[in-house]
Amino acid sequence: MAKIVGHRGAAGYAPENTILSFKTAIDIGCDETELDVRLSKDSKVVVIHDEEVSRVTDGSGFVNEMSLAELKKLNCPEKQKIPTLQEVIDFCKGKIGLLIELKVPGTPKKVNRIILKNKIMGNVAVISFHYELLREIKKLNPKLRAGLLFEKCSEEIWKLAEEIPIDFIGPRKDIVTKGIVDRAHKMGKTVYAYHVNDENTGKDFLSLGVDEIGTDFPKLFRSDLKTSGLWRKT
Ligand code: G3P
Ligand code: CA
Repeated sequence: MAKIVGHRGAAGYAPENTILSFKTAIDIGCDETELDVRLSKDSKVVVIHDEEVSRVTDGSGFVNEMSLAELKKLNCPEKQKIPTLQEVIDFCKGKIGLLIELKVPGTPKKVNRIILKNKIMGNVAVISFHYELLREIKKLNPKLRAGLLFEKCSEEIWKLAEEIPIDFIGPRKDIVTKGIVDRAHKMGKTVYAYHVNDENTGKDFLSLGVDEIGTDFPKLFRSDLKTSGLWRKT
């Protein structure tokens, strides 16, 4: 059994990291949604994957060189806007869990403050490729669930997992092995595999004991629930 995490909302069906995308993930029945956070020039926590806005909006420029007001003037497809983290929480609270990916320095303190202010500790985790950001947020809030993302597995990853300490590991789908899953479980850590966009890989991961599956196409896996009962919604 595994939880389904809609990636950037449900990015396979709606403009990524927008309210419409989070609504889609909720409507499909995802357990959680992943989202990416950065800081605007005026230090507001905004939800956008890239450091530059042109792939997902009609504008151009770096997120950290634009104020929130400037970012809000940009248009995403389907009449969407770049949301703030607070707007995403307002929309998602009580409906879906959040997996917040810290993309840049400066986010740990602000994200932790927002999590505490909104009282969503039970329904949120943070993830990052940057172990120093996880270390910082865990120092601020040791009870906050945190996961270390990686694209290559090494002894360094396992050392960091103990040292920080993190609660779960996040290997990209192409490096997931039974050895990795078993070792994480032995350490008392769960496994979140991300970028899982085909059904067969998802099924293979179930048999390996992967705990959470991150996907742009969660409908693939919700339909599986109806037919086989493999997937669990909690
Ligand atoms: O959920 C983890 C995954 O989102 C990490 O990669 O580039 O899609 O943010 P990326
Ligand atoms: Ca991400």
